Amino acid sequence: MKITLTKQKKQKPDYKNLGFGKYFTDHMLVMTYSDGKWNEPEIVPYADFSMDPCTNVLHYGQGIFEGLKAYKDADGKITMFRPYDNMRRMNKSAERLSMPTFDGEKMVECIKELVLIDSDWIPTDPGTALYIRPTMIANDKALGVHAAHNYIFYVILSPVGSYYAHGLAPTKIMIEEEYVRAPLGGTGECKCMGNYAASLLAGELANKKGYDQVLWLDGKDRKYIEEVGAMNIFFVIDGVVITPALVGSILHGITRRSTIEVLEKAGYKVEERRISVDEVVKAQKEGRLNESFGTGTAAVISPVGVLHYKGEDLIVNNNEMGPISRYAYDTITGIQNGRLPDEFGWVYRCN
Ligand code: PLP
Ligand code: COI
Repeated sequence: MKITLTKQKKQKPDYKNLGFGKYFTDHMLVMTYSDGKWNEPEIVPYADFSMDPCTNVLHYGQGIFEGLKAYKDADGKITMFRPYDNMRRMNKSAERLSMPTFDGEKMVECIKELVLIDSDWIPTDPGTALYIRPTMIANDKALGVHAAHNYIFYVILSPVGSYYAHGLAPTKIMIEEEYVRAPLGGTGECKCMGNYAASLLAGELANKKGYDQVLWLDGKDRKYIEEVGAMNIFFVIDGVVITPALVGSILHGITRRSTIEVLEKAGYKVEERRISVDEVVKAQKEGRLNESFGTGTAAVISPVGVLHYKGEDLIVNNNEMGPISRYAYDTITGIQNGRLPDEFGWVYRCN
């Protein structure tokens, strides 16, 4: 892999005040696809792309991305969390969007090199990490609606803190009754750009009313719970942990899978099944909805304090983080940042 180092390093941000996705490191990885094959990846100084206005990703959104994190412990040990799973999911997204697949194992190695080159950007305060954003975009100069022949795969890095401005405080989630995110047979299962574009209006309307994100219902009957804007969702009802089954329109969250395994290992009963909004509302009204939380790379484990549905705020666990959410948070982040042993083999060592 060709590496060109920057001549001018950027100033580091205030690591106590990172927010999410606002700062980017000195380098990025770029790999182009042309003549039916991927070219050698390169690490280059972080810079703008120059693009013809007719480039098809700018019109038809043939683009996919991933999100994973790297961590640095007090001894300088650098790790990534489950990077092969992200590469597998990205290849699935590529297939769904008619884009070329790539060698995921080799890409993990390349990302490791990039992370090591920019390792002085990895924040170490609790709740912070280096967010890694692999992205693939169509790069044909053409307005016909066709799968492109040329692509750019790139990886950028961003030191991040909490995804939500309020940190670990419980989120307020609005159950969306009008718009839908993904019908069966659509692209809900993959991380394609259009899914997020289509979700913005509902998200903005919810924000205006004081809610953090929307909780999507199924696209057919608006009856079953799917997921939140940037995270999968869990409920604890009568002590049983329930998360919607992956029916085809929900992202296969890596934090979701990890959480299920961590909770099952600790002896909790976990059910992956269809769960209707009526079941959740009924449980809340009867005092049997013990907890709710979202899971995601950016969101980590985020407790849900309020669920808004049909004009009513349903308070969950007194608007506090519950014990199962806390256990999941402590265990997952403990494995990620090396405080706890990696019993599941999820941690990839970079150095
Ligand atoms: N659902 C959506 C729509 C997401 O964007 C994300 C974030 O990646 C997740 C769920 C959680 O997935 P993961 O845990 O793999 O980050
Ligand atoms: C992630 O958690 O990695 C995501 O992609 C969620 C969001 C920032 C789009």
